Amino acid sequence: MEKRDGFGSKLGILAAAAGSAIGLGNIWKFPYITGVNGGGAFLIVYLICIALVGVTIMLCEFTIGRRAQMNPIGAFKKLSKGGPWWIVGLSGVLCAFSILSFYAVVAGWVFAYVSRAITGSLIKVGADQIGGLFGGLISSTGEPIFWAFVVLVLTALIIVGGIQKGIEKYSKILMPILLVLLVILMIRSVTLPGASKGLEFLFKPDFSKLTPTGVLEALGHAFFSLSLGMGTMITYGSYISKKENLPSMALQVSIADTVIALMAGIVIFPAVFAFGLEPGSGPGLIFVTLPPVFQSMPLGGVFETLFFTLIGIAALTSTISILEVVVAFVCENYNMARKKATIMIAAITFFFSVLCSLSLGTMSDFTIFGLGFFDLFDALSSKILLPGGGLLIAIFVGWVMKKEDVLDEVTNGGEIEFGLFNAFMFVTKYLAPILIAIVFAYSLGLLKL
Ligand code: TRP
Repeated sequence: MEKRDGFGSKLGILAAAAGSAIGLGNIWKFPYITGVNGGGAFLIVYLICIALVGVTIMLCEFTIGRRAQMNPIGAFKKLSKGGPWWIVGLSGVLCAFSILSFYAVVAGWVFAYVSRAITGSLIKVGADQIGGLFGGLISSTGEPIFWAFVVLVLTALIIVGGIQKGIEKYSKILMPILLVLLVILMIRSVTLPGASKGLEFLFKPDFSKLTPTGVLEALGHAFFSLSLGMGTMITYGSYISKKENLPSMALQVSIADTVIALMAGIVIFPAVFAFGLEPGSGPGLIFVTLPPVFQSMPLGGVFETLFFTLIGIAALTSTISILEVVVAFVCENYNMARKKATIMIAAITFFFSVLCSLSLGTMSDFTIFGLGFFDLFDALSSKILLPGGGLLIAIFVGWVMKKEDVLDEVTNGGEIEFGLFNAFMFVTKYLAPILIAIVFAYSLGLLKL
């Protein structure tokens, strides 16, 4: 048998896993759902979800993946020795389509902005016109579909390169640049006049604004942002060498992801308030808020181009991690060549992306459960499939896998110390499943507090 491809270095793993976690979720979604849910109080609930549930589930996923050395469906089959657990892997594969199809559309908007920024036309659009430009872009037919196509083609090209020469190589180049740009923009934003109101909005909790749906959104977003609940980290875990320290890796990736989300919030909210915009304006937040900020700074056009390029890059290091889940499964399960599998899966995703994009324009009258395709795929993944997957992953590691096997895997056969193992097992067995179940029941109206 051919040797299985895998990550080549510790830095490579961190770049790839953090690259998966850090994406549109941090820079596009986190600020707008924080805005919609009233700011600071939502942030606190979100941080609790990350610290308590997020890090734990990430370690569970790494453990499953590295133990089994397989894609999620194969991993559940192998580790459960029969039983229907592979269905969790299957739901992950379906979830991958659901996320990737709307994610590619949003990444496409970013690329459409990049192309306008490069030609210099974006920087000329005033604060009063940018909302119209964005609304026009996302509801039109040809342009967003074209850019979603570009996103999927780029994603497929990296995936065809493999793990070490594709995913790892590009993540290592792209992630550091993203960080530097965020720092520069953060400094610009907090020095705008009136910036302190934005920081207050983000950091001063007003619990009266927090709703039950807000709590569910916080949990769902914790999963989304850390790329948990659908097998991405199981897949990446299967490429991690047996020498690496899984608990410390899960912690580092979670911290990096959270810091970047906070940084994005610190870039965006001061700017929102400085320009008198609405923090709760929804999915358009970064697309209409940031351009006026760039207009107000020297070399704004250059920064604007770089910034949207980098969001595009952050999106790509995430789209590859989503596509990889399905590609790994199809290659291993059906013995298909990587290239063929990639093209096939990207093409299917593109079809769904077209539906998502059209649902914001020409097809806006077509709804299922009152939602268009775009919102449907978003809600289905963040509110149901990811938390549900996370719940089952925790139960699997806590109750189905043998405790000795879990201990063996997270300590590399006793080679490394993991002092918090008992705490980890407690959260995995009881706390995480109970918390997720409560939030679920609450949001479905089965439970009233
Ligand atoms: N975490 C990424 C983001 O924040 C998106 C993502 C990549 C993802 N892989 C995933 C979300 C797997 C859920 C599951 O943008």
